[in-house]
Amino acid sequence: MNLVTPRSRLQPAAVQGLPADFRWGVATSSYQIEGAVSEDGRTPSIWDTFCRVPGAVHHAEHGDVACDHYHRMPEDVELIAGLGVDTYRFSLAWPRIQPGGRGPANAKGLDFYKRLVDELQGRGVTPWITLYHWDLPQELEDAGGWPARDTALRFAEYAMLAYEALGDRVEHWTTLNEPWCSAMLGYAYGAHAPGRTDLGDAMGAVHHLLLGHGLAAGQMREAAGSSPLELGITLNLGTATPETDSEADREACRRADGMGTRLYLDPIVHGRYPADVVDDLAAQGIELPVQDGDLAAIATPLDVLGVNFYRGALFSGVTEDGSTTDTDGLPVVRGVERDLPRTAMDWEITPGELTELLLRLQHDYALPTVITENGAAFDDTVAADGTVPDTHRTAYLADHIAAVSEARRQGADVRGYFAWSLMDNFEWAYGYDKRFGIVRVDYDTQVRTLKDSAKWYRDTIRLTRNTP
Ligand code: NOJ
Repeated sequence: MNLVTPRSRLQPAAVQGLPADFRWGVATSSYQIEGAVSEDGRTPSIWDTFCRVPGAVHHAEHGDVACDHYHRMPEDVELIAGLGVDTYRFSLAWPRIQPGGRGPANAKGLDFYKRLVDELQGRGVTPWITLYHWDLPQELEDAGGWPARDTALRFAEYAMLAYEALGDRVEHWTTLNEPWCSAMLGYAYGAHAPGRTDLGDAMGAVHHLLLGHGLAAGQMREAAGSSPLELGITLNLGTATPETDSEADREACRRADGMGTRLYLDPIVHGRYPADVVDDLAAQGIELPVQDGDLAAIATPLDVLGVNFYRGALFSGVTEDGSTTDTDGLPVVRGVERDLPRTAMDWEITPGELTELLLRLQHDYALPTVITENGAAFDDTVAADGTVPDTHRTAYLADHIAAVSEARRQGADVRGYFAWSLMDNFEWAYGYDKRFGIVRVDYDTQVRTLKDSAKWYRDTIRLTRNTP
């Protein structure tokens, strides 16, 4: 499955083995597409600030205009409807809805999302809201950010403002998108906003992100009463395969899986942090700031687990020169490059590992899943006739959708697939250079053009729905 895609896969065809109510969608996020960063009362988020830090983002790019979606929303919804997807996953910008991260809701900010929901529903597309896709109000970062407990309480309050305004019409809610990225890229590796580099801060962030998720989920559930509500969280998940069967390589996988997957899913699903990860952190003098009642809140029952999958990885517990400890004396966890096709992000293409992941999630956590993101950046070219022949992206989507159907065949309860992304957008620290869209955006003119992959996706969905 990880080998070369047969050309026949590039012809749209019905995907076998999916139920009639399988959800098909496209996904985006607020800061990556909206622009209009100072309109209608929006205040700066940590990304507005981070983009101004010299060297933080490729070519010093930022989301000031992005895809100008804030002004082009109706035509973008038309584009979405034209793809024939049934669901659109987007995120709300916290600093539009609750400027500064505290106080009452900003009616103008909410109005934009109300209009978006109206447009979608008017065209038969189901809205799927993500509450937090990384644009923390800067004021909350100034007050300590996610490592501070208060941010969790602020998040729950913001979630309720949004839910009170939109919950009567929107049934599908995701609290957080990829808390691993918020915590690790934002507070440990400094690669994302707010750009801090302290593992202790990052672990504080993990706990308070999860606490914010749990508090918000509990309050939303209570507010929903008997109204329909499908509640979830979206995690970036992969697989960790040992390079060899050696103890060191298996230990590296245990650590990678612990910090990447179990640290999030164990408390969410089982109400406890994984003991081995807690011990590993303690050995570095780090403790998760857990207070009484936190884990019960974090384990508020969910209806669906959102899975963002891009790639699996191979790990070794030994450095290239044979050492099992790194320069800080810590056990080595080294990603090993494989001889596999790659995307423009230099990410290995590993669809078989999506099947493996979904089966493992089914076995260990037993929640229904939806692939809330899957897709690839490639260096697209525009042909003389204006079309975008992005064969690699089509192959990537085809292989991963096939992997989902294979996981279902083997017993995983996967209920939907959303392509990342609807359109090219601001790819965080990579700026606009990396294009993940199935629709091309010309950033000079803001013209949107369906790439061949979008046409393939549209036709595949239609054919799959029409096959009994
Ligand atoms: C996951 C993130 O949720 C999204 O914002 C990002 O653009 C994609 N990965 C691709 O890196």
